[in-house]
Amino acid sequence: MTDIYPTIIRPILFSGLKADPEWLHQQTLRSLNWLDVRAPLIAKQWVLSRLNQSYCLRDDRLKQTLWGQDFSNPIGLAAGFDKDGIAANLWSGFGFGFAELGTVTFHAQPGNPRPRLFRLPVDRAALNRMGFNNQGAAALAQRLQGLHDAKIPLGVNLGKSKVTPLEAAAVDYLESFKLLKKWGDYFVVNVSSPNTPGLRSLQSTDQLEPILSALQAENQAQKPLLIKIAPDLEWEAIADVLSLAQQYNLAGIIATNTTIRRDGLKTETIQATGNSVAEEAGGISGAPLRQRSTEVIRFIYQQTQGRLPIVGVGGIFTAEDAWEKITAGASLIQVYTGWFYEGPGMVRRVLEGLLQKLDEHELHSLQDAIGLDHLKP
Ligand SMILES: Cc1cc2nc3c(=O)[nH]c(=O)nc-3n(C[C@H](O)[C@H](O)[C@H](O)COP(=O)(O)O)c2cc1C
Repeated sequence: MTDIYPTIIRPILFSGLKADPEWLHQQTLRSLNWLDVRAPLIAKQWVLSRLNQSYCLRDDRLKQTLWGQDFSNPIGLAAGFDKDGIAANLWSGFGFGFAELGTVTFHAQPGNPRPRLFRLPVDRAALNRMGFNNQGAAALAQRLQGLHDAKIPLGVNLGKSKVTPLEAAAVDYLESFKLLKKWGDYFVVNVSSPNTPGLRSLQSTDQLEPILSALQAENQAQKPLLIKIAPDLEWEAIADVLSLAQQYNLAGIIATNTTIRRDGLKTETIQATGNSVAEEAGGISGAPLRQRSTEVIRFIYQQTQGRLPIVGVGGIFTAEDAWEKITAGASLIQVYTGWFYEGPGMVRRVLEGLLQKLDEHELHSLQDAIGLDHLKP
């Protein structure tokens, strides 16, 4: 099947309509929500079966069981796309093996003033400073409670509310977790967004420890708890996070969030504001992040001798990019920017490419590819 997204639909959406990326994003979620909740059953079933035919790929070689949960393939939707779980029921229809909802905060909040999301097409990147706009943990809990069968594991990514001072962060994360713990399949402590003042300082041992301690005391080892880190941490700081991850029995680490670095970008000016990229606050995602996030994955895998599951995210567009992250040590991967550039056919294309890679390397399953680079002499 030829994919008309990159050749016809994307050019219309990105340039022809000059569509504001946030508006486009909201329309997408709104349409999916309409389909899920309001469309006549027969229409919904027809669309779901078309989605399934077009975008899903099932193959036993791609399956994994992690944390006692079945992942039909390793590609997940990254946090931030469906913060409020608006389309939680439908992500399996786009071929994803799992989806991470959130970031949600205990208090509902509007996020930063607009515009706050920009495309950098020349760099195949995005710059965002959304600032955790979300309806709050209670609203997500209510929505997840009403879900019948998402068919894939759903993670929940937790952040700190902007109104809560950094010193009270542990209680803020804990309150969200209490509301949601029954409804998510895994949970992520997000201390790495560049768009909430001071949030990334919570990655330091003295500030992170009370958060992990509070969450694990409440959790009683029932749900996998992971941490998501920034790509801009020094090796020593990552090693400190890993020590805490071990001490508090974390289930894994998500590497990485967006970067605050601006080096290597071809884009000089953000069209929508007329300001230089260096002047605009926010985090860069997409292709410019790819290499650094892979390096972080490689480092974590080495430091933990492959014992701590890694979810690799940052700049994945192709099967080549996905293979790079998996062989560096990622058990699962996630996509955001690549998915909105490449369109919904991307997941299937990457999965097909991964199967081809397995054949080329004469490997039986994807699991055999995780950390493969580290076996090289
Ligand atoms: C518009 C936008 C919003 C995001 N919001 C969140 C968020 O709420 N929480 C989070 O942990 N990461 C968020 N991210 C980061 C992504 O989950 C991901 O870590 C990052 O974009 C790198 O992956 P990518 O290069 O595939 O986009 C966001 C990214 C973008 C582009």
